[in-house]
Amino acid sequence: MPDTGAELPSLRDALRSSGFTLDGVADVLGDRASRALNREQPVPAELVTRGSDDPVAVLVRLFGLGCPVETAQVDRALPGWGADRLAGLGVVERVGDAVRTLFDLRPYGDGEHEWWVLSDLAEGVTRRPLPVDHVLGIGGASMTLASWTARRPVDRALDLGTGCGVQSLHLSAHASSVVATDVSERALATTRFNAALNGVDWDVRAGSMLDPVADDTFDLVVSNPPFVITPRTDAMPTYEYRDGGQVGHAVVEGLVRTVGGHLRPGGVAQLLGNWEVPSGGDWRDVVRSWIGGTGLDAWVVQRDVQDPAEYAELWAGDGGHRSGTEGFERMYAGWLADFDSRGVGEVGFGVITLQRPRDAREPWVDLVDATTGPVASPMGPTVLAGLEARTWLADHGDRGVLGTAWRCAPDVTEERHGRPGADDPSVILVRQGGGLGRSVRADTVLAAYLSVADGSLTAGQALDAIASLVEASPDAVRAQALPQIRELVADGLLVR
Ligand SMILES: C[S@@+](CC[C@H](N)C(=O)[O-])C[C@H]1O[C@@H](n2cnc3c(N)ncnc32)[C@H](O)[C@@H]1O
Repeated sequence: MPDTGAELPSLRDALRSSGFTLDGVADVLGDRASRALNREQPVPAELVTRGSDDPVAVLVRLFGLGCPVETAQVDRALPGWGADRLAGLGVVERVGDAVRTLFDLRPYGDGEHEWWVLSDLAEGVTRRPLPVDHVLGIGGASMTLASWTARRPVDRALDLGTGCGVQSLHLSAHASSVVATDVSERALATTRFNAALNGVDWDVRAGSMLDPVADDTFDLVVSNPPFVITPRTDAMPTYEYRDGGQVGHAVVEGLVRTVGGHLRPGGVAQLLGNWEVPSGGDWRDVVRSWIGGTGLDAWVVQRDVQDPAEYAELWAGDGGHRSGTEGFERMYAGWLADFDSRGVGEVGFGVITLQRPRDAREPWVDLVDATTGPVASPMGPTVLAGLEARTWLADHGDRGVLGTAWRCAPDVTEERHGRPGADDPSVILVRQGGGLGRSVRADTVLAAYLSVADGSLTAGQALDAIASLVEASPDAVRAQALPQIRELVADGLLVR
């Protein structure tokens, strides 16, 4: 692993001065090559940068594409640093008159901060299956968790299973202190390097799951844990970055059951996970059984569902194993046999958000299926608003809902569908433009209520007026509309 020396801030300065930034790389690569590289296809980027002496192009070839680059070119691209110092640091190796990188190094950011992140080279660059101690770079799951994290200023935050430290970089923007843990020594060394490179200070600890923080509590815990369900047979490579070494979904279940012991009152834990759903079963029953007894509020959003064969294809192919090879087919069959042994019908993926209530009240639980359509990006502001809205509903009950003058959020629109020539619509759909992109079918009462929900009448007043218009009993109208209004409040379609 490279040195984590005092020199790293000056390397950061050199990378920035050379223009090796998110914008700089995007300018050099252009849209097509950038998008291809995000799909781990290096060919367009290789063609765009070939023969160029532009410092950013040279650094993309060196650190992003893994090409050997002439020493003199590297010296010109990184003035004050150059190939010798990079080799001395252990980031590149010499190959004749050229150097070749030993790591992926790339700019990364959140719109307000610019960081540089070192990780192991992806298999698209090495063109070999990954070693089992591979340290993952910033991938789709990393960005999903970063997007969904509820970011408010907090005192203490934990990044469990830190890998290259990408979540810790985000946390350092809004947490006074960050603890980063991992079971992999290589990941911890990478995290320390990235902390030093970016001039941030984390408490980096070795150990499995919550062991390294046995006596600690946090305001925010984030984890993209090793959640991949892996058959426990010799045919499977045990990749540290994705496999927690347990059977089925036990890693995620265990974390959900125990993380509450490390949350301060009002503290939030967010994790990604897979869950096995028995044939004919409902994912909500599986996840609800993990949450029961924790005393935590829980908001779980299922974002994807795969059947066992789709899951096997995805993960047998991960790490550089090609379809059609003997190893791939052995792994594929192993996954199917493993799922069949437990009667698994499908595997869900989603984002789990848990909150320790501030005071003694019944925890709320909301299990939402959002497997179709895009959601807001970033999702963090929606998660923060959703936590507050659900907590408000739990604190204030139906009386509070009826006594509040709600208004439709600005991103809510209504669609009316009907037969040509019909006087009245047969379907009214209420759509949310942001957030989870909810779409709700409104009955006559709800549609009437939303049409007057502009913050001037309380829900109780508006529903009573609607009851007299439709000549129905006020109690019946309230009973019909209240659960629907609560849902719209929880998801941010109705706001105070
Ligand atoms: C999917 S990677 C996530 C890396 C990074 N946090 C991200 O968001 O991209 C999972 C990480 O968990 C680590 N890990 C594996 N088993 C673990 C365990 N038992 N306890 C803690 N971390 C573990 C792996 O080494 C790896 O760094």
